Amino acid sequence: MRPITNIEDLRVLAERRVPRMFYDYADAGSWTESTYRANEEDFQQIKFRQRVAVDLNNRTTRSTMVGQDVAMPVALAPTGLTGMQHADGEILAARAAEKFGVPFTLSTMSICAIEDIAAHTSAPFWFQLYVMKDRVFIEKLIERAKAARCSALVLTLDLQVLGQRHKDIVNGMSAPPKLTVKNMLNLMTKPRWCWNMLQTPRRQFGNIVGHATSVSDLSSLSAWTSQQFDPSLSWDDVEWIKKRWGGKLIIKGIMEVEDARRCVDSGADALIVSNHGGRQLDGAPSSISALPPIVDAVGSRIEVHMDGGVRSGQDVVRALALGAKGVYIGRPFLYGLGAMGEQGVTRCLEIIRNELDLTMAFCGLRDVRAIDRSIILPPRAPDWYLKGA
Ligand code: GLV
Repeated sequence: MRPITNIEDLRVLAERRVPRMFYDYADAGSWTESTYRANEEDFQQIKFRQRVAVDLNNRTTRSTMVGQDVAMPVALAPTGLTGMQHADGEILAARAAEKFGVPFTLSTMSICAIEDIAAHTSAPFWFQLYVMKDRVFIEKLIERAKAARCSALVLTLDLQVLGQRHKDIVNGMSAPPKLTVKNMLNLMTKPRWCWNMLQTPRRQFGNIVGHATSVSDLSSLSAWTSQQFDPSLSWDDVEWIKKRWGGKLIIKGIMEVEDARRCVDSGADALIVSNHGGRQLDGAPSSISALPPIVDAVGSRIEVHMDGGVRSGQDVVRALALGAKGVYIGRPFLYGLGAMGEQGVTRCLEIIRNELDLTMAFCGLRDVRAIDRSIILPPRAPDWYLKGA
């Protein structure tokens, strides 16, 4: 096998090994995918200032996110159906993250259940919550996250309605896959994936099936989810959830300064500047371009994190330079998982850390916590990220 040198190598391998419908589910954006593309493209406009003849011994990428020590300020993002990129995917990714020393965030829409992750890891992980109409179910989910010793709750606010992803419709996306002739033929080309999937009992939404009233299998589940995402979600619900949870709270899906201010008012510990990886409002700006005004407005009062479009440790440095205190990777670790299971997630994290460390060094820094706007200065700066510099 060709050596894996970067995240793109993992992506190519995942595309070969993961059934088309699940690869597309992870990889796609909504509608024209313009926001999905902008997330990656806008990072490339940010240029580094190279420094020389600086002592580069004893470098460190260690930092903290919401008060927790991290090997680098990078967390695994909550991603739906991770256990369909590879059998037991959430357990494998959580283990890789634990060994590496970065947070793993379990999605509400995961295949492996909260209890599964707790049973297979010893470090606390984070849990991502979607607010559903069935508040009894949400209360129970919060209690399950507490019982599993989750050390932060990531509350997603940008999925009251679902952005249309054309590829999912075309592929007849479901878990387990709908056995159309096209999908059967595609599955036949993925023997490794099929073999692993046959060895595990975890093939449904583990947090939901058997826990939500009237969901006992997958057919009742699809009806339940389409009815359950709550279009009436409000800041009062955020307050209610904060009270019930009582621990570290991170609010995800913030793109505007006014909403960032509401996060501060809510007493949350952090917010994530995020357009859901370009999967929700197509036509929204890139996450990296939305970051600087939010950092300027609220960065001294709340920890500002970001996700969307990060494909390298260099992108992590760019986000940190623009004021993020933490960065999430979603697709990069899913590519690693689909390509090589736990080992692939570890490889993804190693690649990111190595790129982060070297880029920081080229910019003349030894400590990741010292990264700030002084290390970036393009000759022709797009004005969105120099604002407030
Ligand atoms: C769920 O989080 C999704 O983006 O599909």
